[in-house]
Amino acid sequence: MKKVLVIHGPNLQLLGTREPAVYGRVTLSRINNELKKIAKKRKVTLKIAQSNVEGEIVDLIGKSKNKFDGLLINPAAYTHTSVAIRDAIAASAIPAVEVHLSNIHSREEFRHKSLITSVVKGTILGFGQKSYTLGLEALIDII
Ligand code: DQA
Repeated sequence: MKKVLVIHGPNLQLLGTREPAVYGRVTLSRINNELKKIAKKRKVTLKIAQSNVEGEIVDLIGKSKNKFDGLLINPAAYTHTSVAIRDAIAASAIPAVEVHLSNIHSREEFRHKSLITSVVKGTILGFGQKSYTLGLEALIDII
């Protein structure tokens, strides 16, 4: 069975109540449940983690080499700042898909740049919860 690591970055534990006009009302546990349903249907194993700490995310990715076949990641605010997470994904050489709930290009200018996009297979953004489910399906297709 193929194994996929799902990483949710900072503040995503607040989904449901966090800026609903931007992120909607969906909670992180609901998103995770949808991902688990897809994983079951597609016969892959999921490990799901959420962290507000950049170094923890770097460690998780660093330890995933030879353990996981794919990475689905919403790096959240670290998308725009973290060379360390970018380098960890590049070093792992694990096929990765980047997802965002919101369309970062239609928001504040500081969100327009993703340091992550250049090291992933593809990015899905702007579709709320569906960004995650589309992202997981696409990742499973390529691994
Ligand atoms: C986000 C977009 C980021 O700019 C923001 O910092 C987040 C969430 C998204 O899913 O739309 O925390 O990654």
